Parts: sequence; structure tokens; C-alpha cells
Amino acid sequence: MAQQDSSGVNGRLIHLNTAGAGLMPDAVRAAMEECIAREAATGCYETEEALDDLLQDEVYARLAAAIGAPVGDVALFDSATRAWCAVVPKLPLGPADRVWVTPYEYAGNLISLFSLRDRTGCRIEVVPTVPGGDLDLDWMARHVSDDVALVSVTHIPSGCGIVNPVEEIGRILAPYRCFYAVDACQSIGQVPVDVSRIGCHLLTGAGRKFLRGPRGTGFAYAAPELRAALITDFHDLHVARVDSAGGYRVTDGSARGLELAERTTAAVAGFHAALGLFASGTPFDHQEVFRALRETVEKTPGVELIAPGTRQSGIVSFRHPDVPAEEIRRRLRLRGINVWKIVGHHTPLYMAERGVDTAVRASVHYYNTLEEIDAFGAALREIAGLGSPA
Ligand SMILES: Cc1ncc(COP(=O)(O)O)c(C=O)c1O
Repeated sequence: MAQQDSSGVNGRLIHLNTAGAGLMPDAVRAAMEECIAREAATGCYETEEALDDLLQDEVYARLAAAIGAPVGDVALFDSATRAWCAVVPKLPLGPADRVWVTPYEYAGNLISLFSLRDRTGCRIEVVPTVPGGDLDLDWMARHVSDDVALVSVTHIPSGCGIVNPVEEIGRILAPYRCFYAVDACQSIGQVPVDVSRIGCHLLTGAGRKFLRGPRGTGFAYAAPELRAALITDFHDLHVARVDSAGGYRVTDGSARGLELAERTTAAVAGFHAALGLFASGTPFDHQEVFRALRETVEKTPGVELIAPGTRQSGIVSFRHPDVPAEEIRRRLRLRGINVWKIVGHHTPLYMAERGVDTAVRASVHYYNTLEEIDAFGAALREIAGLGSPA
């Protein structure tokens, strides 16, 4: 059994790992517990029937409102990767097509793009950065043309907290034929995300991070023109019907056609509750805590901050030349503080190419206080000063 401690602040655990998964609010837990209790008492299908409005309409309406999308263009999945894989591998690309990614692309997205390249012959190109790590928008504006078929931008990468300028990129790409995909896994719930302002055709995300929903929830916005272009080989029975031996017809042309019918009702109910809390006012004005976290790490002697770019989020990564990331994490955990050890190959084009194999990631959300950051700073200074195992 893993060692546990909850000294933190006043005996409370300090959770600095929302980039992994946020702490679930009571309302989310209650919605899930209620759903599971109901399933056990009355049956799963019967529970689904009783929650029909929530599961078929309300959760989609809340998701659509959260990201500024038409309700017919959003779909639910059990992870952000599942959402991505429901769309990207089906793009009708060929050898003449170029695909742009950035150095901040998530490794899972890259794997599906490499498979797409191997199947279709399309070319993958990496958008350069300017010194300091910002994406080179001038390069994008000068080099974009109609043979760029897809541009994929991770809004905030999981390994380092740069906030990429997805709206500006949308304006650069707007006159061209390319589809524009944004990975909002780490940004949704942390900074404003609005697909109509971004101008993207695909946006994917997870429920468990800064939205504070349950694990096993993810979503996509997929614009109608993107959905129409996909090479689709399957529709599940919630959106399609077989009337004869001759074939099937699609009965629902919305983005729900990308989903599979079977899902965990409790997860969807929990996600619905999380979206409700988000709508009732997730504060985006926690810049003070963002800054405090970054400054704390920056000022800790011996610690190297890994933070490219001019615009930063609440995710900060760092490493120490003598104390391995896993050891820092363990020692902070013993002091009641959750951080995470990240691996460079999850954000390989930026981290692995800069020789970052592992690092410590601390991430804050609106429930973290300046007092907690102070406690984290004191613990980190102590650990960084020790140098050898505690
Ligand atoms: C930037 C980014 N994209 C995609 C994902 C994949 O999300 P999921 O684990 O829900 O598939 C993650 C996971 O941490 C991520 O940080």
C-alpha cells in the first residue's frame, strides 16, 4: 500500500495535480453515487430511462454552452483520446496533403497522426517556435497554403504550461481549406475556450482535469463540414437503424454519430454535474495563484523551471540536477502535497528533444490558495536543499 500523509495546510492535502485530474466537487460525486445506487436498486437500463432528459439532452446542452458550440456538433466519449480517435484517423488525406503539428503536441495525438501518415502518405511538418518557445505565427502566416489539410494545436500542453494562441492561429488559417484541430484537454475549465472564437473544426477535451468531472469522460466538438468529410465506417445503434438486409440508414446526423452507444451512465451524470458547476461560475481570474506557483519554483535554488512561451497557465514543470523527479514527488507527498512526475515522451517534440526525460509538474486550480503555494514553496526549498534522499 502506498505511503500516505495529509499534513498539507492544517492537515489538509494540497492537491497540485489538476493537470492529472482535478478534485471532484461534492456535487459531482453525489450525482455519480446517486446514479450507481439507483442502478443497483432498480437496474441500469431502467436508470438510464429515468435519466433520459439528462443523458440525451441536458448534458449536451451544457457541454455545448461551455465551449460556445451548437448542440448538434458536440459528442461525448470516455476520454479525450477516444474523442480524437473518433475523428482524426477518418480524415480523407492523401500524399499531396500536409499536416501541421506544433512542438507541444500530445504524444497520443501524434501516434494517431503517424498512423494516418503511414496509411495515406500525407506529410507531417512541425511548426517552428521563436526563441523563448512561442509558436512562430509569422512562419505560419507565410507558409500556409491550400495543401495544408490539417493543423493541430494543443492549447495548453500537459508537460509545460504555455498557453498557445489558438484564436490568433484560427484567424491565420481561416482563409485556407485546412481543417483546424485544437486539443483543449488541459485548457478547458482553466482558461476560456470558445470554438466560435477559435474558429476550429475539431476540439477535444477531458472531463476529469480542470472541469473537475469524473474519470472516463471526454468530449469533442466536430464542425458539420469536418464530419461530412470523414471516411466513416460505422455508426452505432443510437444513431443508425438496419431496416432490411440491404443496408442501414443514419437516423441522427449530429456529432453523436461519432460516439458508441454504450457508456457509463454514472460518468455522464457526474460530467453533467461538473458542467453545471462550471456554468455557475468557474473563476478564470486565478492569475495570482498561477504567478505565485511559477515564482515559487523559479526562486527555489537549484531548481530548473521548464516553462516556454510568454503566456503561462497554472501548470509548471521543473527538475533538479541531483534529486530525481519521482523522489521530489515522493518527498512532497510525505509532506501532504500532491504533484506529478511527468515523462518527456508524452510531449516528445518539445520535452524529449530538449533532453527532458522526466520532470515534476505542479498544477493549480481555483481551489488552491496562496497559503498552499507558500507551504509548497517551503517544502520544495527544503527538498531541493537536501540534495540526497530524505
Ligand atoms: C494535452 C493532452 N491531450 C490529450 C490528453 C489525453 O487525454 P485522455 O487521457 O483523456 O485520453 C492529455 C492527457 O493528459 C493531455 O494532457
